[in-house]
Amino acid sequence: MDITTIILVATVLLLLWSLSRKPKNFPPGPIRLPLIGNLSVFMKPEKFGEKLEVMYQKYGEICGTYTFHMPVVIVSGVEAVREVCYHEDLVGRPENAFQKIVYGKSQGILHNTGEEWKSLRRFTLQHLRDLGFGKSSLEGLAHEELLAVFNDIDEISGGRSEGFPNPVNFHDVLGGASINVLWHILAGKRYEHRDPKFKQLITAVQKLLIVFFQITYLYNIVPSLAKVFPRITGFETMESHIKPIEDFIQDEIDDHKKDIDYDHPRDFIDIFLAEVEKQKNNQAHIFNEQQLKQICIELYVAGTDTTLNTLSFAILFMILYPEKQEKVQQELDDVVGRDRLPSLNDRARLPYVEATLNEVFRLSSIIPASLPRTIVSNKEYITLRGYHIPKGSLVAYNIHSLHHDPKIWDSPEEFIPERFLDKSKKTPIRDVLLPFGAGKRACLGESLARNNFFLFFTGLLQRYSLRVPDGQPKPSTEPLGVNVTFPKPFTVKVQLRT
Ligand code: HEM
Repeated sequence: MDITTIILVATVLLLLWSLSRKPKNFPPGPIRLPLIGNLSVFMKPEKFGEKLEVMYQKYGEICGTYTFHMPVVIVSGVEAVREVCYHEDLVGRPENAFQKIVYGKSQGILHNTGEEWKSLRRFTLQHLRDLGFGKSSLEGLAHEELLAVFNDIDEISGGRSEGFPNPVNFHDVLGGASINVLWHILAGKRYEHRDPKFKQLITAVQKLLIVFFQITYLYNIVPSLAKVFPRITGFETMESHIKPIEDFIQDEIDDHKKDIDYDHPRDFIDIFLAEVEKQKNNQAHIFNEQQLKQICIELYVAGTDTTLNTLSFAILFMILYPEKQEKVQQELDDVVGRDRLPSLNDRARLPYVEATLNEVFRLSSIIPASLPRTIVSNKEYITLRGYHIPKGSLVAYNIHSLHHDPKIWDSPEEFIPERFLDKSKKTPIRDVLLPFGAGKRACLGESLARNNFFLFFTGLLQRYSLRVPDGQPKPSTEPLGVNVTFPKPFTVKVQLRT
């Protein structure tokens, strides 16, 4: 081998070594491959929860991986997850590369950090609450949606006169209901569930959700290539998914502007537009129409399919565990009866229902890993349980493993609502059941989601008996989806309860 070849080989080896090197005291994890890192962990869309579980078992509570050059740390186990949730340096989110390319910086709440995030989150939450978000004043709206869902179910199933012969796909039927409650708060409207424009919106939101948190797209890593190679960088895909929702919301904002009365706002869009008007002479203001559009997109994407998928899992568990279904119905009959719909005021007197909802949150874990957080302080690294997490890392916590850990839960793969009625357990539920996350970055929509879930679930169970359709195999509980999971399509035989 001549000297040139030796130098060339040595240079290549050195380069490969430097590209696969990990910082000092980085958490244990799979071997970092040069350039791509551990891309495969985040690429394969199926069984993300199980993958996280395997990583926890193999590498322990803090697992360090790489996506291209970016460190991605997955945290598991009760104590470590708590530490991340409440860590004062871990309240940032990674910049959204798509928004940076299009608007020059991240917007809205979900992808924002610092003072802008704080102000927008506070403003949004406060005004959504004033509009009834998570309060019993929205119950009438949820009941209205429920009655529309009953109509759809009766029609699709063939109804009472024909003996409900046709199985029903609840995932299809329930999609409009949760989106309508949210849309009412944001835009003061509801849509007919079968309105083609509305159906398109639901499909667009579902498609966007699949790619929304995708960190493996190349434009995230090399934003400068996005406009030059929109297809191979994934930029075009993201744009095509966001566009229909953005157009829908822009139309709504334009409609609102036509007849807005700033002194009498009708809904969240009006309230935000009034703030834009109020702040227009303030140089430092952060309220503009683009922010409004972004927040509406985020609430839509984060808020509709999450509730829908949780409900779908709840229906699935009810048909797979008919004896639990009967217990829920018995409690509803005893406490509420059949003459009125269940109300939020009944909740405290429905412990078995409450335990069932908790068990659905636990077993389904529709969001297997939290959204990524970033370090907000100027430190070069922070320390998590003895390991160094360098600035620029993404840190996510493993919700799936928390909810399926045999050290915490007996028979974790079984659907057992009764486990939540057992008062002898020492660990508080709030530490081990975290479907909405915890800390300053916890879910903004938790109260609305919990209320809607309760009202839709109890309303359906009060009215219908649900079974696996005759002659069909039991549907699988194996989830589809990555960041937000949902059950494989299944249908249900419904019967009016007598
Ligand atoms: C069953 C339903 C839902 C589940 C399981 C869920 C779960 C979550 C989780 C795990 C997070 C991340 C927490 C973290 O990073 O620590 C989150 C964030 C968020 N959720 Fe939800 N969510 C649900 C419904 C909703 C609804 C109905 C809305 C709004 C209408 C919503 C809006 C948001 C927003 C805006 C964030 C980001 C908050 C921030 O970064 O400051 N979610 N959610």
